[in-house]
Amino acid sequence: MYRPQEDSYLLAAALADAGGTKGAKVLDFCTGTGFLAVNAAQLGAASVTAFDIAPRAVLSARVNAWSRGLPIRARRGGLEEAVRHGPFDVVLSNPPYVPCEGETRDPRWDAGTDGRCVLDPLCDSLPDLLAPGGFALIVHSEFTGVDATLSRLRDVDLKASVVARSRIPFGPVLRSRAEYLYSSQLAEPGTLTEEVVVVRADSPRVRS
Ligand SMILES: C[S@@+](CC[C@H](N)C(=O)[O-])C[C@H]1O[C@@H](n2cnc3c(N)ncnc32)[C@H](O)[C@@H]1O
Repeated sequence: MYRPQEDSYLLAAALADAGGTKGAKVLDFCTGTGFLAVNAAQLGAASVTAFDIAPRAVLSARVNAWSRGLPIRARRGGLEEAVRHGPFDVVLSNPPYVPCEGETRDPRWDAGTDGRCVLDPLCDSLPDLLAPGGFALIVHSEFTGVDATLSRLRDVDLKASVVARSRIPFGPVLRSRAEYLYSSQLAEPGTLTEEVVVVRADSPRVRS
């Protein structure tokens, strides 16, 4: 189980700062324990749907919602299932985004050689996931490519910008990947901190 960490807290703070959650239909994609779903519900969301591919995560999100009496539906599934339940006014995601060499070892954070195997399809699906005038907040590491995310979102006609940043020391996962990050030129050799960013994407109010 992925326990909420700095990236989860940064995204939760960005959600509180953004406003617009009260009365909204919210998606928490890659929900883990349901931490972000709970935050959205506590900010007054009308409904929150939380998706995760891991059965244990879905169970944990359900328990966390139920024990707080919050209107959260936690479901097992990936992007296709999430799109079928949309569109949403607000989409939140802390997806797996750590670059890893070779096979994905742990789906809680591993995300292919460039860290983008969940992020890119999510960006591409946002026009379908978001209602007109809706917005998404997505958190990931600088090593996953912030410019790549911004241009991918702009390519699908969304307004995109970085709304929050935090520099944090490498945790155990990144320490174990440091040599790969250096050798693949995703990080400068010797780097021992990463910047985590929250990217906001806005859907136009009127679709062209
Ligand atoms: C980094 S954790 C984030 C957990 C939680 N949202 C948080 O911020 O604390 C990523 C979660 O995404 C889930 N996941 C990985 N690949 C997925 C996919 N393709 N579709 C849905 N969930 C996925 C993992 O099971 C894991 O629970």
